[in-house]
Amino acid sequence: MSGARKLYVKSYGCQMNVYDSQRMTDVLAREGFTETAEQDEADLLILNTCHIREKAAEKVYSELGRIRRLKSQAAGEGRQVLVAVAGCVAQAEGEEIIRRAPVVDLVFGPQTYHRLPDLLARAERGGKVVDTDFPVEDKFDHLAPAQPAALRARGPSAFVTVQEGCDKFCTFCVVPYTRGAELSRPVAKIIAEVERLTEAGVREVRLIGQNVNAYHGDGPDGRPWSLAQLLFRLAEIPDLARLRYTTSHPCDMGEDLIAAHRDLPALMPQLHLPVQSGSDRILAAMNRRHTGDDYLAVIEKLRAVRPDIALTSDFIVGFPGETEADFRATLALIDEVGYAGAFSFKYSPRPGTPAAARNDQVAEADKVERLARLQQAIDRDAASFNAGLRGRTLDILFEKEGRRDGQLIGRSPYLQPVQVMAPTSLLNGIAPVRITDLGTNSLFGTLARSPHLHDDRPTIASAGP
Ligand code: 5AD
Ligand code: SF4
Repeated sequence: MSGARKLYVKSYGCQMNVYDSQRMTDVLAREGFTETAEQDEADLLILNTCHIREKAAEKVYSELGRIRRLKSQAAGEGRQVLVAVAGCVAQAEGEEIIRRAPVVDLVFGPQTYHRLPDLLARAERGGKVVDTDFPVEDKFDHLAPAQPAALRARGPSAFVTVQEGCDKFCTFCVVPYTRGAELSRPVAKIIAEVERLTEAGVREVRLIGQNVNAYHGDGPDGRPWSLAQLLFRLAEIPDLARLRYTTSHPCDMGEDLIAAHRDLPALMPQLHLPVQSGSDRILAAMNRRHTGDDYLAVIEKLRAVRPDIALTSDFIVGFPGETEADFRATLALIDEVGYAGAFSFKYSPRPGTPAAARNDQVAEADKVERLARLQQAIDRDAASFNAGLRGRTLDILFEKEGRRDGQLIGRSPYLQPVQVMAPTSLLNGIAPVRITDLGTNSLFGTLARSPHLHDDRPTIASAGP
């Protein structure tokens, strides 16, 4: 019987947490842990949490309630199960988590998970362990690279963190407090990580950072490089067919980054550029440092170089002091841009942020009503964006098998999931697909070329120029 210990990791919130969870899994693989999707067979459970809105944080506590039963059942069988809370709730609440949920053995923030082997050893000896430091050492220097087999299991599209933290201090947001100051990883380290990924079969890399386009990591020439410089360099890596980056701030959309959307075929025609509100009064109160017109000017430049670019955004409705007129300005901006999709949220007061202390909070009923109207506007625009793709042939990167037999699911250059009847030999590759139908959350298509093995025409199209 194998003595391998089992690890269960659940990620909440943003893509950075997904990436961090994978890094934790890689660190623990070196300690002999193998991953499981079943909570009840795990020896260590990690909840990698999100603190961005109250609802996200509360989810963690209800999950911990369920885990408590699991843990006492295991204890009855003489088995030690350890429970860890990681991520931004851990950073923000620290020891308070253990007071509220004594089932938790370990609490550690987003900057200390490279210390996991040591933290775990301490927890195994029976103590409660809390580590919410912002250490001086760089966690990335201490992380284990993923094994090629683990990389292959994660599919052809990978996240790579290039930048972390935020110095913008939007008045609603906890990120500058939970993730700390803005920090960019050096170019050479990112190149090495991307090369390792492509050698293991990865075809698409999504550069992630809370403020990714503020990237300014040390370049090989000793100067800080911009995100655009980094993208141009990464595009030279053989077999890397697709690049994306997220999440961007409108104020950091430099001219060279806009030019990259014109000049880099590997840079996909898609951009998540949160605006939050269309009202200049609210944007100022949010400390966004841009107006609605500034944002629209950026969109215009992007569309000038890449007319088909799929734009998405985040919106907050019911920020303190938001009136019906402010909200209408947001709807007007949505009309003007014509988004391919968006995430929208009711404002949620976060402890310690300036907006939470305001005494002009918007009534819940107004938030609910505005959110519904906003989502209706976005759904309408997303449907019309997708309708424009019907009949077009797009390169699809096939990521996984679908629910139906013989079906694969891939992504279009615009990032929508596309369902296609296709042989599994196309998994992890790129092939042209004709879009035939539109669903609510995905597109449907048929292979544009026969995938038969005897057919000597190439079936795997290059996404190059
Ligand atoms: N309330 C509601 N939404 C928020 N976001 C960030 N903080 C809050 C908050 N306090 C949203 C923003 C951000 C996205 C990641 O989450 O729209 O872009
Ligand atoms: Fe939060 Fe604003 Fe920084 Fe984005 S830019 S992480 S919303 S503070």
